[in-house]
Amino acid sequence: MLFYQIKRLKIVIIAVASVGLLLGISWLVSGCGGEGKTESLKDAVYGSPEAQISMEKPTTSELYSGAALSIAPEVNPVPNARVHEVRLDVVHNEIQVADGVKFMAWTYGGTLPGPVLHVRQGDRVRFTMTNRSDQTVTISPPTPHSIDFHAAMVNPADKYREVIPGATIKFEWVANYPGVYMYHCGSPAILQHMIYGMVGMTIVEPKDGYPTKVDREYALIQNELYLTKMKTGQYLVDMEAAKQKRATYVTFNGIPKQYVQKPLEAKPGERVRLYVLNVGPNGTSSFHVVGTLFDRVWLDGNPQNEERGLQTVLLGSSNGAVVEFVIPEAGTYTFVDHEFADVELGAVGQIVAKSEAVASK
Ligand code: CU
Ligand code: CU
Repeated sequence: MLFYQIKRLKIVIIAVASVGLLLGISWLVSGCGGEGKTESLKDAVYGSPEAQISMEKPTTSELYSGAALSIAPEVNPVPNARVHEVRLDVVHNEIQVADGVKFMAWTYGGTLPGPVLHVRQGDRVRFTMTNRSDQTVTISPPTPHSIDFHAAMVNPADKYREVIPGATIKFEWVANYPGVYMYHCGSPAILQHMIYGMVGMTIVEPKDGYPTKVDREYALIQNELYLTKMKTGQYLVDMEAAKQKRATYVTFNGIPKQYVQKPLEAKPGERVRLYVLNVGPNGTSSFHVVGTLFDRVWLDGNPQNEERGLQTVLLGSSNGAVVEFVIPEAGTYTFVDHEFADVELGAVGQIVAKSEAVASK
């Protein structure tokens, strides 16, 4: 009798536990109480007009335009308008990456990396891109190009299609998610177009801004360059080295060690926000700042993905983060990819914080 009572009790316990488990799973699937996931997509906009391709020529010689654009490390404030007209033209142009090291790059807007696009969650981007690779006679023949915004939710076969030399594409998209995102050329071989320089950053500020106030902010884009020196002394992009992941340089904002030569500035006690993006295309970044700790890290730049007190943030290829820290006192704060082979190849820079007294001397 006692045996059957215990057995019945066990069945009841198992049944109750199973129901509890199922409820728990459905709670998790629904997004931990129904907020969170659904909340962040509440105002999402899906669907946009079909991309337009034409042979329309740009009326300006400017290779990029739009108040939402800036050149890293600078980050322009988000313009007041909620619709942003943005132009990024593709050119084949020479880029100097070190003393005596120049190569024929493929770029958005003539810069490597391309300009930083800064908008707010919910904003609409009206985008125009002319493939001007036919306008320069170089060792790189005119080539079809395209653009893929990781910040957008659109049909890639339509918006990210190839644009032949001389043609112009126009399309629009809405920034549904806040974050730090990559954009890049998606034409084959994608690896080739990325190592030629067709990479850049989009920052989508959360609807109500980030929850902290900062004294200054910078954009840092980590990228690899694969070059080979010809007998003529000329440098060419080296696709074989890229396939074998043997980078010649690893840089922040296109030039190895540039912020050792020209450090970024801050002041003691200031709170600094870095928008960090690893565009790869092949390696990871273990981003670290010597002498401070990351008070906040928002993985991929979304404030819902919050980490605190990190020493290093690991960014896979195309991962971004917003990283915030306090400059504790006057000094030189070196930032690195803590994978130190990458430091040797150029992934190192400095933030110099001078005290007011020192600065005024
Ligand atoms: Cu391309
Ligand atoms: Cu991509």
